[in-house]
Amino acid sequence: MFCTAMIAPTDTATKIELSIKALPEPYRGQVLVSIQKQYTDFYRDLTVVLENTEPELLVLVDKAHALPENYIPNDLVLLDSAQVVLNKKDMQARRIAAQALYTMVHAAQAQGITISVSSAYRSYAYQESLFSMYVKEMGEEAASRVSAKPGHSQHQLGTAFDFGSVTNEFAKTRAGKWLTQNARNYGFSLSYPEGLEELTGYSWESWHYRFIGVKAALFEQKYFLGIQQLMLLFLHTYLKA
Ligand code: DAL
Ligand code: ZN
Repeated sequence: MFCTAMIAPTDTATKIELSIKALPEPYRGQVLVSIQKQYTDFYRDLTVVLENTEPELLVLVDKAHALPENYIPNDLVLLDSAQVVLNKKDMQARRIAAQALYTMVHAAQAQGITISVSSAYRSYAYQESLFSMYVKEMGEEAASRVSAKPGHSQHQLGTAFDFGSVTNEFAKTRAGKWLTQNARNYGFSLSYPEGLEELTGYSWESWHYRFIGVKAALFEQKYFLGIQQLMLLFLHTYLKA
């Protein structure tokens, strides 16, 4: 018997159960334990996340789930070089993500740490050219480990950012370490952690963060082993059920 049934209405408990079952092993068992341990909190936290987060911030975009070719966020803004160090010109992001980015980089800057942005919103067409460039350079199989096909990139959402050098040397820098420790408190989550390629579909990208909102980032940490893909998969099933 799944414990949430005692707390949540029966249909919600059933949806939760179904959504956990949709997670791949070995993670499914670990997430189940972490939810069952604190099921009263879980039901409350799930409700809070869904009531306080724009659905677009939690959309699953991965190798199996694409955005429409014509999807363009309707609130893109140009990133402001007075707010954040930009490694190239004319980068855009969704307004809500840009604001959160500025808050986060200012907090890091107050501790003497500079976080620079190397990539933000990417259109379907731009991602298409980027992916073909990688295919030419390294062949399709290798390319698909480091670059999303058009429609499958979180960058098309306008809420994902690449920071610093865009190499895993970034993980060793003060900025990289600061983000590992603090990004979630500003609503940012690392999309492709080390050692999780089988789950996420991509090799480790210590520089690629997605803004999902503070409540969701803390929810991810508390119940989903700090793994974005697991939380988004769970919510994807839950919202469809
Ligand atoms: N490098 C990530 C997977 C992307 O292309 O969106
Ligand atoms: Zn990226």
